[in-house]
Amino acid sequence: MSSPRGSGRPSQIPEFPAGSAGRSLPAVGFGTARFPFVAEDVKNAVFAALELGYRHLDTASLYRSEQLVGEAVAEAAQRGIIASRGEVFVTTKLWCTQCHRDLVLPSLKESLQNLKMEYVDLYLVHFPISVRPSEPHFPMKREDVVPIDLRGVWQAMEECHRLGLAKMIGVSNFTTKKLQELLSIAKIPPAVNQVELNPSWQQNRLIEFCKEKGIHLTAYSPLGGQSRTSNTNAVLHSEILKEIAEARGKSVAQISLRWIYEQGVSMVPMSMKKDRLKENIEIFDWELTDNDRLKISQIPQHKKVTVLSILYPEGVSSVDLAEIDVVEM
Ligand SMILES: NC(=O)c1ccc[n+]([C@@H]2O[C@H](COP(=O)([O-])OP(=O)(O)OC[C@H]3O[C@@H](n4cnc5c(N)ncnc54)[C@H](OP(=O)(O)O)[C@@H]3O)[C@@H](O)[C@H]2O)c1
Repeated sequence: MSSPRGSGRPSQIPEFPAGSAGRSLPAVGFGTARFPFVAEDVKNAVFAALELGYRHLDTASLYRSEQLVGEAVAEAAQRGIIASRGEVFVTTKLWCTQCHRDLVLPSLKESLQNLKMEYVDLYLVHFPISVRPSEPHFPMKREDVVPIDLRGVWQAMEECHRLGLAKMIGVSNFTTKKLQELLSIAKIPPAVNQVELNPSWQQNRLIEFCKEKGIHLTAYSPLGGQSRTSNTNAVLHSEILKEIAEARGKSVAQISLRWIYEQGVSMVPMSMKKDRLKENIEIFDWELTDNDRLKISQIPQHKKVTVLSILYPEGVSSVDLAEIDVVEM
């Protein structure tokens, strides 16, 4: 995986190269998906993140946060917290209900309207799944899943790039198998694959594959993810990570984020709390020991997000869901 570097963005957060045009993206960004979603609270958190030096904002048509991201960036520029919109790396995503050849460009235009921006830095296919066209929603009905036209969708993504509306294009939740299929048809290869990745879901095979193919990986749920149903978190409650954190005088969250950074992977943690936002970027001036890394490699592996977790449990799909699963085997 490529080494971090500076970008010209005045921030203490290092950057990783991504794509083939000499671009880069911050090693730590801010994720804007929140359950339950309260727009004003998320906007305040985005603003706080920008004040602290975050320069990557991760949104999606699904999250309902595009508009507030645009507003927070505009306000931050007005108040002199950033010089201009160009200082911020903005990612948004095409949801499964928009994942159809003819809907890609209109969907990006709608996202840009929400953001009140001329371009996004990165546009991602959110999942390798197509669901009958409708407003982005979640969970989705199994009977609405249709076969994906990956070639057509990717050609439309390439068009978004050619039009200058997306500086880079990429994917999310793609396994090595899905990436191989995409690479065989792409004229412009994906610059980034955003996937679930943390000490409890380490994705060694995918990291190796992406390194070999020059695809940058971004980790979502780098702290084990938000939980709507239980109080357990495989990362934040890991006894191994707690033990390392105590010995190193760091928080468990910092051990997880530092481990991800050392894999050459960028990340988009989310917190509504300013002290945690600060803590989550204090990971660049120290490192894990070989012994810490060995212990982390022994953490039991568990994936949170699967195709089944984004669909209603009932109903029958005419598409073989096992074929489109997003879990790297
Ligand atoms: N591409 C995809 O399919 C996909 C899927 C899921 C998520 N994402 C992106 O990834 C972003 C982050 O993932 P995520 O929201 O699932 O989970 P996450 O960042 O792993 O975890 C967020 C949870 O950790 C807590 N937290 C944050 N910093 C902490 C700290 N220093 N100490 C203790 N707890 C801390 C937060 O609570 P508090 O707010 O109370 O601090 C929140 O409950 C999302 O916002 C979204 O942008 C993408």
